[in-house]
Amino acid sequence: MKTSLKHQPFIGLAAILIIASIAGCTEVRKLTYSESFIYIENKEVKNLMRQMSMGVNRLGQIVAKTTTTDTAQQQKITSELSKLENIATKLSVSHTQTNQLFISDHIEQFLTDIGTAKMFAKMNPPEYSEVEEIVSHCQACHKLH
Ligand code: HEC
Repeated sequence: MKTSLKHQPFIGLAAILIIASIAGCTEVRKLTYSESFIYIENKEVKNLMRQMSMGVNRLGQIVAKTTTTDTAQQQKITSELSKLENIATKLSVSHTQTNQLFISDHIEQFLTDIGTAKMFAKMNPPEYSEVEEIVSHCQACHKLH
């Protein structure tokens, strides 16, 4: 057996210890609620909202610069929309027991709107006006709040 292989387990162990110590901070929060009670913490909501906000900003920048014939940008736009969809889906979990009743009331419509924007963005040639609409949907939900 080569001597270099003997060191592999130690490197692996060190990596696990480092990862575990980083993950440790976020794990504590999960343990404070029982698993059956799905509770979206305010902090989590804000975190997801910030991610949506960054996604929407990126989308806005791409859409502003692109032309309808640029297929590489079209790919980026649809993938950004999918990311938004994922985040919004996370926000929509557990309609009956969520602490964010307001969100559960409006998120379905928002998800539908993202789906529509994605469908239009995938067309050939693409139509991006629905993407711009998403920003106004964010604002609409915030105004209601
Ligand atoms: C379903 C309704 C709804 C939609 C749609 C929605 N938001 Fe929010 N947003 C909220 C609520 C409710 C809060 C407040 C969370 C709290 O403070 O409890 C919030 C908070 C935020 C915050 C503040 C986070 C912080 O750090 O305090 C940002 C930024 C934000 N939203 C961005 C967006 C963007 C961008 C979109 C569109 C992609 C969007 N939101 C769509 C309901 C919504």
